[in-house]
Amino acid sequence: MVLHKITNEKDIKLCVIMVGLPARGKSFISQKIVRYLSWLSINCKCFNVGNYRRVLGVDNPKYGFFDFDNVNSYEIRENALKLAFEDMLSWFDSDLENNQVAIIDATNSTRARRNWLINNCQKNNVHPMFLESWCDDKETIMANVKDIATTSPDYDGMDLNTAEEDFMKRIENYQNVYSTLNTTDDKDITFVKLINTSHEIIINKIQTYLQSRIVFYVMNIRIKPKCIWLSRHGESIYNVEQKIGGDSSLSERGLKYSVKLKQLIQENVKDNQELSVWTSTLKRTQETAQHLPYKKLEWKALDELDAGVCDGMTYEEIEEVYPEDFKARDEDKYEYRYRGGESYRDVVIRLEPVIMELERQENVLIITHQAVLRCIYAYFMNVPKEESPWVSIPLHTLIKLEPRAYGTKVTRIKANIPAVSTYKEKGTSHVGESSSAKGSHNLLVNAPEIN
Ligand code: F6P
Ligand code: PEP
Repeated sequence: MVLHKITNEKDIKLCVIMVGLPARGKSFISQKIVRYLSWLSINCKCFNVGNYRRVLGVDNPKYGFFDFDNVNSYEIRENALKLAFEDMLSWFDSDLENNQVAIIDATNSTRARRNWLINNCQKNNVHPMFLESWCDDKETIMANVKDIATTSPDYDGMDLNTAEEDFMKRIENYQNVYSTLNTTDDKDITFVKLINTSHEIIINKIQTYLQSRIVFYVMNIRIKPKCIWLSRHGESIYNVEQKIGGDSSLSERGLKYSVKLKQLIQENVKDNQELSVWTSTLKRTQETAQHLPYKKLEWKALDELDAGVCDGMTYEEIEEVYPEDFKARDEDKYEYRYRGGESYRDVVIRLEPVIMELERQENVLIITHQAVLRCIYAYFMNVPKEESPWVSIPLHTLIKLEPRAYGTKVTRIKANIPAVSTYKEKGTSHVGESSSAKGSHNLLVNAPEIN
């Protein structure tokens, strides 16, 4: 008899080791992976070696510090890596059950350094997976150089030109020793190599489902600036009657919003810019999109959270008929699954293909529903999952998201057409806009509301 060892993927800790010269978008990619996996409830944390070097007291190094022949500074840099690595191991240990993926964000330019990482991962039962960002596109590199020279704490207080010049010389120091990953020398290790973001991708020895999910995600990342517009459908007849779910049409005010939405979009989207409009399969989102002169796509995945046996009821009725369910939902709204229906977690899972496609697309307007928009918003704005079902997304408000290198800028544009509130406060069955819910999430980059 052959005994098969069943390995639970949750037991395997994964360390994604970034590789790349400075200004190749490594931190950008790392942050995106953290945000994506966290959104899918996979605990992931990034350990940036530059931050550990600053903890060791080197906070404004000149380019000479990164000369590989400089023995003293080399030692400090190796120590910074070791600190990051130790912290990573402690983080895995602090919650063995859930902390699953760590990212070591550094250049990791030499085979010697990468071998050190492989050996130490193996000693600690952590699977290493290398992710190289290789880029020779001058425009992208210069944009990254400018961004880092402006925002990195290494260049605090330095004028932009001097910072840029210093940073270019720092890159040269790394170029002198850099060895790129290839399928001959590195044939035995797990790696993904992104060449000019996603123009060409080399994949080697991907072994687990989780690794392949990460590979698929990074393959879809685009770096061209774009805008994502989010809107709920206009006020519906069910909204006015305070009923949830259903497939009702728009109210008079909802129809007015559909006209106003065209105007708001045309005021904000440049004439020559392409825009795709995505709706759910439900009448109220399609009626909201009816005047928009752009190509439209219907997604079943954008349909509202399925309230199962509660579909068509008001919150008051649910509290009366299913008091225990009503309470359980308030206590853990993210996990609670309606009888015969869905939870927020279920919605996140069905939205994954939408998110993947959004990463690939340029400008998109999504017209969908309260719960679905909360989930999409949580992905872009890094809202913790427990908070996401409580985010305020009022009717008749257009939300503009501009994903940037280190966060997403959000602008809320109100249509100034009155609508009922559908926000149910925790602990009551009444609807009314929550002031506490507004802005209670983590805005990476925030912008004032525009009226
Ligand atoms: O009330 C509008 C609505 O879109 C319902 O159809 C849906 O059940 C509800 O919002 C989702 O919001 P919550 O999760 O706060 O109940
Ligand atoms: C750094 O010190 O900023 C850094 C990223 O270190 P490393 O050279 O180890 O990549």
